[in-house]
Amino acid sequence: MTCPIVTGGAGFIGSALVRSLLAGGAERVAVIDNFQSGREENLAEVRSRVDVHRADIRDYAAIAPLLQGAPLVFHLAAIPSVPRSITEPVPSHESNIDGTFNVFRAAAEGGAGRVVYAASSSAYGDTEVLPKIESMAPNPKSPYALQKLVGEYYGSVFASCFGLETVSLRFFNVYGPRQDPSSPYSGVLSIFMTRLLERRAPVIFGDGGQSRDFTYVEDVAELCIKAAHAPAALVSGKVYNAGNGGRFTLNETWQTLCRIEGVDIQPEYGPERAGDVRHSQADITAAVRDLGHAPRFSFEEGLRRTLAWYRASQA
Ligand code: UD1
Repeated sequence: MTCPIVTGGAGFIGSALVRSLLAGGAERVAVIDNFQSGREENLAEVRSRVDVHRADIRDYAAIAPLLQGAPLVFHLAAIPSVPRSITEPVPSHESNIDGTFNVFRAAAEGGAGRVVYAASSSAYGDTEVLPKIESMAPNPKSPYALQKLVGEYYGSVFASCFGLETVSLRFFNVYGPRQDPSSPYSGVLSIFMTRLLERRAPVIFGDGGQSRDFTYVEDVAELCIKAAHAPAALVSGKVYNAGNGGRFTLNETWQTLCRIEGVDIQPEYGPERAGDVRHSQADITAAVRDLGHAPRFSFEEGLRRTLAWYRASQA
């Protein structure tokens, strides 16, 4: 394989990364996806420049030949949900830990150039201090958080023991167009957006005072590409926050959406979710310094763009 590869490239974040790679000069991009949550239509307008391989990262024999000699591997394939990792821990473990090991192993044995790994802000758990900085001790509160943390550790160990260049990016609550709102495990903003457009109240789990550093998908995609090209001596084996640097409570977020849309809908409240982190906010100093991270989308701008996409897709 001579072009960049994106595992999970038919998914919400993966397909945004594929579009960014192509817009940034890649002639072709290869995608590995099992289409469990990925969708062909996420790649529709770039499909002629994408080599799609329907394969599962749990199947080493299937993915190893695809990663052989790849200049860049972006490993985004995962079962990405905190609550799902609690209700269905086995598939979550198999994809997020075993599958991630397979990707690192295939990349190392196949002589791939670098692996950029999608880690998660959930690895921090609840910290006493905000914002959360990479030097803080991880404190995973859910199987998902632990699984994503194990992937980071594997990334560092593949760098130190097997000479594979790796960079881990802790994604902070990524949102934007194409995030699938249809499952109970969907990201909160995709659910809020569709509820808003249907003029229905969302259900907020807990008191709504929990906060998140919501990060627009294009900013994350660009950071992945920057991480792929940063000097190896500086970044390989390391972990960086991939956030926006801000923090909004769910109550504030719903109010902002209602204001943008010009409606007044009171949310409903339900029980707090198991494994939920209370507050999340990234210190992005290291990513700015070492990777050139430069988020372009304010929260309100990102919300407006995303809402416009959901409105158009429902029309
Ligand atoms: C976590 C990670 C995030 C990771 C994501 C993968 C943290 C801080 N963040 O996101 O980096 O990428 O997993 O899925 O751990 N909620 C509602 N109503 C709903 C749905 C959700 O109130 O209908 C609440 C949740 O209880 C939570 C917040 O919204 O407090 C965000 O939930 P979600 O979008 O699922 O993401 P996290 O679990 O925060």
